[in-house]
Amino acid sequence: MDNTGASPVYRGNLEKLITKIDVERGIDLGNYRRQYLERRLATRMRSVGVHSYRQYLDLLDREPTEYAALLDALTINVTDFYRDKTVFEIFRREIVPLMIESKMQTRHRMIRVWSAGCATGEEPYSITMSFMDALGERQKDFLLTVLGTDLDPGALAKARQATYAAEKLQSIPLEHQVRYLHMHGDTFSVRPEVARHVKFRQMNLFSERPISVVDVIFCRNVFIYFSREQQAEVLEHFWGALARGGFLVLGRSEKLAPSVSGKFELYNGRERIYRKPMSV
Ligand SMILES: C[S@@+](CC[C@H](N)C(=O)[O-])C[C@H]1O[C@@H](n2cnc3c(N)ncnc32)[C@H](O)[C@@H]1O
Repeated sequence: MDNTGASPVYRGNLEKLITKIDVERGIDLGNYRRQYLERRLATRMRSVGVHSYRQYLDLLDREPTEYAALLDALTINVTDFYRDKTVFEIFRREIVPLMIESKMQTRHRMIRVWSAGCATGEEPYSITMSFMDALGERQKDFLLTVLGTDLDPGALAKARQATYAAEKLQSIPLEHQVRYLHMHGDTFSVRPEVARHVKFRQMNLFSERPISVVDVIFCRNVFIYFSREQQAEVLEHFWGALARGGFLVLGRSEKLAPSVSGKFELYNGRERIYRKPMSV
């Protein structure tokens, strides 16, 4: 590593690295605690045999696949139920009721959500429980479908099993645990009444689109895999797939590629929630 943590060269190159990841991938690591970031970076750099941020910057240029490995090392690659509490709070408190209200007014009774890059399924199940909770007795009047897609068939197989280790309960509100889950010792499973709303499909975000128009798209913590141009291409797909007034929820360190940002309205900047305008 370029000597002590305090040296200006060291600091300067760390800032360059953070800026590069933002410019190339649109991922803003600026909010991460510096100490945490430095520790994780050091581990990753050791395992690829580089000794300074300067060398690591060169490595990212030579081997862009290193971006995904780096973000794995920062544990962005983990997933969880209700991942990022504040995003799901806004989703449950504001977006779900808004969606249901507008469906009631227009007499459309289909609610369709797409969790793009759903990994092992925690996100689509969280979305489904949030809607079921808000619909309550009205569930029978609505057709709720949550589509989870991912490139990785192994992750999707786990998602379909809908069984998880008990440690994952921590992030699930108690009333949802009681209502929507079955406990079996040190594992739990999502009840069939919830799982029946969720469909999983293997899908590469570059080659296919969902068949129908969707009301909400979650695409969280996936963009690190893509260049800025690829992100713009995927965001164009999302724009096309969303219904007017539909919501797009990105990961907390992700943002819209500049070429498409004018097409979406900002709904909540802090939580990276966007909306397709009603008038398009
Ligand atoms: C970190 S996980 C995100 C899980 C969840 N969205 C969350 O935020 O907790 C990223 C997922 O994106 C998937 N992915 C990467 N590239 C993809 C692509 N081109 N098409 C579809 N999925 C992709 C990976 O397989 C991985 O499961």
